[in-house]
Amino acid sequence: MDIFDKQESQVRSYCNSFPVVFTKAKGCWLETESGEKYLDFLAGAGSLNYGHNNPIFKQALLNYIESDGITHGLDMHSAAKADFLKALYKHVFHPRGLNYKVQFTGPTGTNAVEAALKLARKAKGRSSIVAFTNGFHGCTAGALAATGNQHHRQGAGTSLNDVTRIPFEGYADIDGLKLFETMLNDNSAGIDKPAAVLVETVQGEG
Ligand SMILES: Cc1ncc(COP(=O)(O)O)c(C=O)c1O
Repeated sequence: MDIFDKQESQVRSYCNSFPVVFTKAKGCWLETESGEKYLDFLAGAGSLNYGHNNPIFKQALLNYIESDGITHGLDMHSAAKADFLKALYKHVFHPRGLNYKVQFTGPTGTNAVEAALKLARKAKGRSSIVAFTNGFHGCTAGALAATGNQHHRQGAGTSLNDVTRIPFEGYADIDGLKLFETMLNDNSAGIDKPAAVLVETVQGEG
């Protein structure tokens, strides 16, 4: 464990709750270097819906690397990206009649939120975003401005602007949606029309 304290920055989160070193992962199980097994309820904060090292994904990945498939292509066209877009259209967009475009963001949640905020602000020509009490959206500047948590907000080192905060469902027994609607329709409520509303439907961290 010493190497982590010695070499890794203090900007760490989940590992503080799990003071062990993991060596293996399979399905819903994690294994530590001493062979202890943990049933993984964290599951990559909900991103591992198919489990660790799912055998189908694992084999496809091995085949891809074995055939020298492109693993770093910036945003250039690749056969893998074409296959992904075709599958997304066929299985998700087309059956639902969705006329959507795809933007590939970075790999994290906060990247997706940043891209969405930027796009909404650009498309609407407005700066204000509505976000809710206790919402967690990530720790880069734009997403952090929409995040409620004081601990994370204090790490910004700069002012976090252009977000109007509305009480989330049940917060202080207030009907947040009704309040929001009333304020939006009241020219003297002092609320600017937002570019977007950012809502974490099931609040995790909050
Ligand atoms: C609802 C929600 N939005 C955004 C994020 C930020 O994702 P990331 O930590 O991958 O940047 C998280 C992360 O837990 C999240 O739970």
